[in-house]
Amino acid sequence: TGGVTTIDPGFKNTGSCESAITFLNGEEGILRYRGYSIEQLADKADFLEVAYLLIFGELPTKQQLEKFHADIKEQSHVDEDVKKILDGFPKSAHPMGVLSSLTSALVAFNPTSVNVDSEEEMYNAIVKIMGKFPVLTAWAHRKRAGLPLDYGNNNLGYVENFHKMMFHRPNREYSVDKKVVDAIDKLLILHADHEQNCSTSTVRIVGSSHAGLFVSISAGIAALWGPLHGGANQAVIEMLEEIKEDGGDTHKFMEKAKDKEDPFRLMGFGHRVYKNFDPRAKIIKVAADDVLSSLGIDDPVLDIAKGLEKEALEDSYFVDRKLYPNVDFYSGIIYRALGIPVEMFTPMFALGRLPGWIAQWREMRLQKEPIGRPRQVYTGETFREFIPVEKR
Ligand code: SDX
Repeated sequence: TGGVTTIDPGFKNTGSCESAITFLNGEEGILRYRGYSIEQLADKADFLEVAYLLIFGELPTKQQLEKFHADIKEQSHVDEDVKKILDGFPKSAHPMGVLSSLTSALVAFNPTSVNVDSEEEMYNAIVKIMGKFPVLTAWAHRKRAGLPLDYGNNNLGYVENFHKMMFHRPNREYSVDKKVVDAIDKLLILHADHEQNCSTSTVRIVGSSHAGLFVSISAGIAALWGPLHGGANQAVIEMLEEIKEDGGDTHKFMEKAKDKEDPFRLMGFGHRVYKNFDPRAKIIKVAADDVLSSLGIDDPVLDIAKGLEKEALEDSYFVDRKLYPNVDFYSGIIYRALGIPVEMFTPMFALGRLPGWIAQWREMRLQKEPIGRPRQVYTGETFREFIPVEKR
């Protein structure tokens, strides 16, 4: 066969590595970062604290967290020439494509962060991407919105400053309801890591060639963009809007989702690992009710989402296949209530997943993992003699 005798499409039954970062139990719907449950972390920690925990393995002391944040702030500037690259994109460019490109472009302006080997060099690259990525994410939005690009106010918290960079308007006082910042902080924590999912596996395999942290993250952004993965949070809202425009008949869409001839799938449902409720979806569903009621927003698509969920939980097709709402099913309803445009939903997922990607890349490099290079079962032609063109 010249290769292997069996393959495992989609790596459904393949373990790619040993990792001490995130624990999933798909049968029981358990998710823990470095042993701490996401229920506790979402309730008691803040995003930068969780980022530190994921990357370095322990909850930081007050001093450690302050130093981490200070080092990140120190590295939050982006070379002005990056704006010229951003200017080259049409306003219609999807921000995930912009972000993947700009994250790769960072290498050109930070050459020392390419092939890092020592823990100190890794730390420097880590605080650089943690500092610059929120800026690039906000800039990708502001470019589409035709707003000036800036750095917000570095004296604010990590998440609050991201919000300011996204939403402050020229010549207007900036202020934000703490509930809004807390909602974003919680969502970022819930997206922070998820063991060897598609985009994290991409980050690890690109990083395994020692291509460097920034381009490994850029590859992860590209993988996350797909509607079967992080892109689902945008696809869910588009689906809910379609159902609303169509008169709100969820049953019709449920039947479409079950029709093998129809490519339509119920976006935000199903998961490779969770064969029970995605614990993140449970928390986000409650948060959606809290955020919308505290902001006095009544969004009809939330009711449609709940209707779909109820129907699916009583439908044998979904129950037999253990298809439950996943992290992407309710998150977009909160993003929308916070004024985040739908094209920015998956960039929000990327901003949350950044520390997880970094943690997994760092672990892979510190464990000196070999370059990722799977084999195949060859199914092509056997040996053939070359045929000169005049005889073809
Ligand atoms: C994320 O891996 C991670 O951890 C990812 C993630 C993370 O934090 O990194 O959790 C984030 O990506 C969440 C998933 C977001 N994607 C979506 O919501 C898109 C819709 N979901 C599906 O495309 C699907 O459920 C996947 C991609 C999530 C999982 O696909 P699998 O594991 O390859 O399962 P499958 O496609 O083989 O489906 C098994 C069966 C099939 O039916 P049968 O062939 O057995 O008859 O279930 C059906 C599928 O047709 N099915 C669905 C469905 N999902 C699976 N049918 C209708 N609607 C769906 N959403």
